[in-house]
Amino acid sequence: MAAASGEGSGPSEASFDRVLISEADLQARVRELGAQISSDYAGRVPLLIGILKGAFMFMADLVRAIDLPVELDFMAVSSYGTATKTSGIVRIVKDLDADLTGRHVLLVEDIVDSGLTLSYLRKGLLARKPASLEICALLVKKDQQRVRFEVPYVGFEIPPEFVVGYGLDAAERYRNLTDIRVLAGEEGR
Ligand code: IMP
Ligand code: MG
Repeated sequence: MAAASGEGSGPSEASFDRVLISEADLQARVRELGAQISSDYAGRVPLLIGILKGAFMFMADLVRAIDLPVELDFMAVSSYGTATKTSGIVRIVKDLDADLTGRHVLLVEDIVDSGLTLSYLRKGLLARKPASLEICALLVKKDQQRVRFEVPYVGFEIPPEFVVGYGLDAAERYRNLTDIRVLAGEEGR
C-alpha cells in the first residue's frame, strides 16, 4: 500500500488512506436527517427501502434517528462487479417483499455517483404506484451525475473520489469502517 498523503491524517492503524468524514460527523448528520424525515413524514408511516449492500449501516443508524412508526424493506442490486465505475446496467439481485401501492416510500442509498443506479431503480419503483417516492442518499459525488433527479435528503456532498467505509466497499472490503475514507491511489478514479 502507498503511504498516506498526509492530508486529513487518519488513525495511525490506517496509514494507507485518509479520513474524509469522521464517525462523529457521520453520526451528527444522520441524526439531523432523521429529525428532518421525522418532521416531514409526521402522521404517516414511511416505508424505508435500503439498497444493499452499501446502505446497510446508514439505514441502521437512520431508522434509529427517526421518531415515527416506520417499516423497512431491502433490495439488493448489482451494477459493478468489483470495478469502480458504473456500467449503467443494474441487476436486481433481491427484490422487495413489500407491496408499494399507496405507500410513502423513502429509498435509502449509500452514494450517488453517476446517478444511473438510482435513476433505474426509481423508475422501476414508481411503476409500482407508491403514494410518494423520495430519495435519501448519505453521499452525493459533486458534478458526477449523468442523469438528473431530485435527492431531497443528502448527508454530504463529496468530491469525485472513490470512498469506502460505513457500508461502502472496494471489492467487498472496508464496509465495517465506522468512518468514510479515501483509499490512497484512488483519488480521481
Ligand atoms: P452510480 O450508479 O454511478 O450512481 O453508482 C452508485 C453505486 O455505485 C452505489 O450504490 C455504490 O454501490 C457504488 N459506488 C459509487 N461510488 C462509490 C464509491 O466511491 N465507493 C464505493 N461504492 C461506490
Ligand atoms: Mg458497491
